[in-house]
Amino acid sequence: MPTALVTGGAGYIGSVTARLLLERGWSVTVLDDLSAGHRAAVPAKARFVEGEIGDRGAVRAALEGGRPDCVLHFAALTYVGHSFERAHDYFAVNIGGTSMLLAELVEHGVANFVFSSSCTVYGEPDSVPIDEAATVKPAVSPYGQTKQTCESMLSWLASTGKLSFAALRYFNAAGSTDDLGEDHRPETHLIPLVIDAVLGRAPELKVFGNDYPTRDGTCIRDYVHVRDLADAHVAAAELLLAPSTPRGTRHIVNLGTGTGSSNLEVIQAVEKVSGRKVPYCFAPRRPGDAPALVADNAHARKLLGWNPRYTTIESVVETAWKWRVENPTGYPGGEEE
Ligand SMILES: NC(=O)c1ccc[n+]([C@@H]2O[C@H](COP(=O)([O-])OP(=O)(O)OC[C@H]3O[C@@H](n4cnc5c(N)ncnc54)[C@H](O)[C@@H]3O)[C@@H](O)[C@H]2O)c1
Repeated sequence: MPTALVTGGAGYIGSVTARLLLERGWSVTVLDDLSAGHRAAVPAKARFVEGEIGDRGAVRAALEGGRPDCVLHFAALTYVGHSFERAHDYFAVNIGGTSMLLAELVEHGVANFVFSSSCTVYGEPDSVPIDEAATVKPAVSPYGQTKQTCESMLSWLASTGKLSFAALRYFNAAGSTDDLGEDHRPETHLIPLVIDAVLGRAPELKVFGNDYPTRDGTCIRDYVHVRDLADAHVAAAELLLAPSTPRGTRHIVNLGTGTGSSNLEVIQAVEKVSGRKVPYCFAPRRPGDAPALVADNAHARKLLGWNPRYTTIESVVETAWKWRVENPTGYPGGEEE
């Protein structure tokens, strides 16, 4: 039975991936400090270690069960806006913590690593859809800088034969499974914010900018379903483990559907799925928001045999709506917030 260490496995994407690994017969340990994740989201069959990736003792405790065949590293601070105010924390956790984690993994002879990267590494791209050959521009946020730096650290470790890795550059993760959903506090992602505005749990939605050079003037993003992301992670881990993959292999892979939805199209999708009007208004553009970010996912399809199943914005929104309605206060503890 292959074994995995999943950091950030109490979080949104990590918990869905940990669940899928278990379903596919992996043995899973989750390392999470619960700073943003939820104990209830950790699959019951996973071994759980509460602790920080930057704490050598916690990482060693997570490795106690034996050297994992693959580490899937989701744990990070994840708010782009917040990263401007708390850049030092983002550097400490996302870069310092990852560096400490990697040092310990190399020490223990861990050979395979899957990293949660982001389309933010492309900054404002020259053209869309974006493929992996697109230039990685200077970072547009401290958060983006941390993803670029972690990818560079991994490249150096791979080039010196210490490990193999896949950096998966997600576009916008969205949607829910039957019992695992998006519960960030505060929430900054568009789909849950639109749903909360409809449900009266959040104020009127602000749409930032309606004068972008896009089909309706609002920003366009590529919303990729969290279950499809989980599929790609398992495929990437399996690929790294394959005997034909030499030590030092480096894969960079975009994960998006290949189709973009504008902010107004997301609002329309929520209106269609919920049967209710979304209260919204337009606000000025936010600095750093690219007009359109859409993936060219041909490489993911070929390399990983990846075939995202949620290809329309309505199908993604439907799952997010269902989870949000069935879990009005999110995971347990939400009602106290
Ligand atoms: N959600 C997206 O659209 C998106 C897009 C691109 C990249 N990503 C990346 O994917 C990963 C997962 O994102 P998410 O949306 O699931 O975020 P999340 O906040 O739901 O999950 C992150 C998890 O990491 C844990 N964590 C944070 N700091 C930690 C630390 N120092 N030690 C141990 N655990 C720690 C949190 O408690 C949480 O459970 C992140 O690395 C994020 O940057 C997310």
